[in-house]
Amino acid sequence: MDYIIHRRIAFDRLDWYAVNSDRQHSITLTTRCPEQTQAVGRLLGSDARAGDVFLLSGELGAGKTCLTQGILWGLGGDEYARSPTFVLMCEYYARLTLYHMDLYRLDSVDEVIDLGLDDYILGEGVCVVEWAEKGLDAFPGENMRVRIEDIGGESRALTFTAESPRYSEMLEALRARFADDSAHAPELPAVSDEAQ
Ligand SMILES: Nc1ncnc2c1ncn2[C@@H]1O[C@H](COP(=O)(O)OP(=O)(O)OP(=O)(O)O)[C@@H](O)[C@H]1O
Ligand SMILES: [Mg+2]
Repeated sequence: MDYIIHRRIAFDRLDWYAVNSDRQHSITLTTRCPEQTQAVGRLLGSDARAGDVFLLSGELGAGKTCLTQGILWGLGGDEYARSPTFVLMCEYYARLTLYHMDLYRLDSVDEVIDLGLDDYILGEGVCVVEWAEKGLDAFPGENMRVRIEDIGGESRALTFTAESPRYSEMLEALRARFADDSAHAPELPAVSDEAQ
């Protein structure tokens, strides 16, 4: 099914557009507060399966950890995920183990490869990697890329790009949740007046 959709929807100003073609399958959501980014993460976490890999990129303070927090909650975890910048990786035990990595302090893909992450990436858990652009070649080609951009104030553009059919399926499920007639439309946290 090919489509390009761009619309503003009713769920408290969460804009989105989706592209599905032979070459690209992506969805961009605009969140208006951290809680909305967490809510989107929650949806991903609840759909996640063993072996899933999410490669996150975006500037300092973009919202990568915030999204990861939602993914952890979606997996059923109740902890608070923090940026594992100094320890490179944190493990959280939930429905599936979450391996939360942060490559910020690394300089080259060789350093990432030297970490020997395969046991985690190819394991039974879910991997979320911040600053993944530092070592893309160290990760499986089948992954979900997530680009987060600060577009002013508390607004963030989250672009999810599926790099294999597994993640296309996940994006399709996400898009279906936001469709006007969805019976499973997510409830998103309201934006406070000050943030608008
Ligand atoms: N819509 C939003 N989504 C996510 N975070 C937001 C949003 N609006 C404001 N913020 C704020 O932006 C900051 C995002 O911090 P976060 O630690 O998630 O960034 P990060 O991308 O992980 O940064 P780093 O590269 O330093 O690890 C938080 O202070 C959060 O409250
Ligand atoms: Mg972070």
